[in-house]
Amino acid sequence: MLRPMEGGGVYDRHNEYQMRGGLLHADLVATAASGIVPDERRGSVVLVDYGCAQGRVSNPLIRSAIERLRRAYPGVPVQVYHNDLLTNDWASLFERLRSEDAYLNVAGGPVTPLVSATSFYEPVAPRGIVDLGLSFAAIQWLSSPGPRGCGSALYFDQLEDGPRAEMARQAHADWTRFLDRRADEFAPGGRLVLDMMGVPEGGTAAGHQAWQMVRGICEEMQREGLLDAARLDGYVLPVYERSTDEVRRPFAEAIGTRLRLEQLALVPVPSPFTERYRADGDAGALAAGFVGFLRAFSEPSLRDGLGLDDAALEALYRRLAARIEAAAAGFVFDVHALTLVISRID
Ligand SMILES: C[S@@+](CC[C@H](N)C(=O)[O-])C[C@H]1O[C@@H](n2cnc3c(N)ncnc32)[C@H](O)[C@@H]1O
Repeated sequence: MLRPMEGGGVYDRHNEYQMRGGLLHADLVATAASGIVPDERRGSVVLVDYGCAQGRVSNPLIRSAIERLRRAYPGVPVQVYHNDLLTNDWASLFERLRSEDAYLNVAGGPVTPLVSATSFYEPVAPRGIVDLGLSFAAIQWLSSPGPRGCGSALYFDQLEDGPRAEMARQAHADWTRFLDRRADEFAPGGRLVLDMMGVPEGGTAAGHQAWQMVRGICEEMQREGLLDAARLDGYVLPVYERSTDEVRRPFAEAIGTRLRLEQLALVPVPSPFTERYRADGDAGALAAGFVGFLRAFSEPSLRDGLGLDDAALEALYRRLAARIEAAAAGFVFDVHALTLVISRID
């Protein structure tokens, strides 16, 4: 089964980096929200956050979208679908909705939060009703782990030849499937503002160095009998950082008759951990901050995929922190957010 982010509010306590990425798109979201014309027969507006996790990143963006909408339609009812996997930490999301700055407190007509606890590779909302979709830092997660039988390789950019091509095909099929499902559920005029991890042309994946370190640690743990060789051989993290061309490709295929790619940009998102390290030179803080961030999104997948128990996971992340601390000045994790605005072709 696909694994969500760490629960118990952990993901939201370690997503400073994702927060930085999401907020870069505030203007795109506000502009898309300004263009919404409520369907008269339905009498309400529908927003969906695809891959919402615990809601910290999207809450301010949904709030500003509703505020924009309210300028033209002060009383229109709004429904907000929060979509993530069934196993998501829904309790933390609802806790956030009870806070003062929650989008539920925007003045005007009623706002109703709803949950769609299913994969975004499946239908998430009824057909033809979504006016504005949002999705941040989620679509790089594929529908299933990468190819099996790849030795100790566990990140897509460690794969070679056939397995690499196989994972690229899977990424394309998943992206196409995601778009197909959205085309079904967008209302006329519906738009999607989305970002995902991307790789610049001829550049290096953001996760390259960190996952090389994890791979080295896994090989070490395997030699020490702490990790089963067959589990390592059968697992590749289901994350794929696409290129700009890979993101464009489905729009030149069948989906291009249903959806239009209005905007596409590759936006560098500087690492807050590296920025702080450059300012204070604290290598321990760099390692702790980065490992907290990586752990919050990778632990459930590594636990299941590699069959690691609590003690083994502790050991893995402790060793990772030590390696990052030792490499601090040369440690790189530069995210590039592929940022898209997509609209339904009516
Ligand atoms: C890195 S988090 C990003 C969360 C949030 N959008 C943010 O910006 O912080 C990726 C989210 O995508 C969710 N996700 C991954 N695959 C999914 C799928 N197939 N369907 C729905 N959600 C999925 C994960 O459970 C996780 O909550």
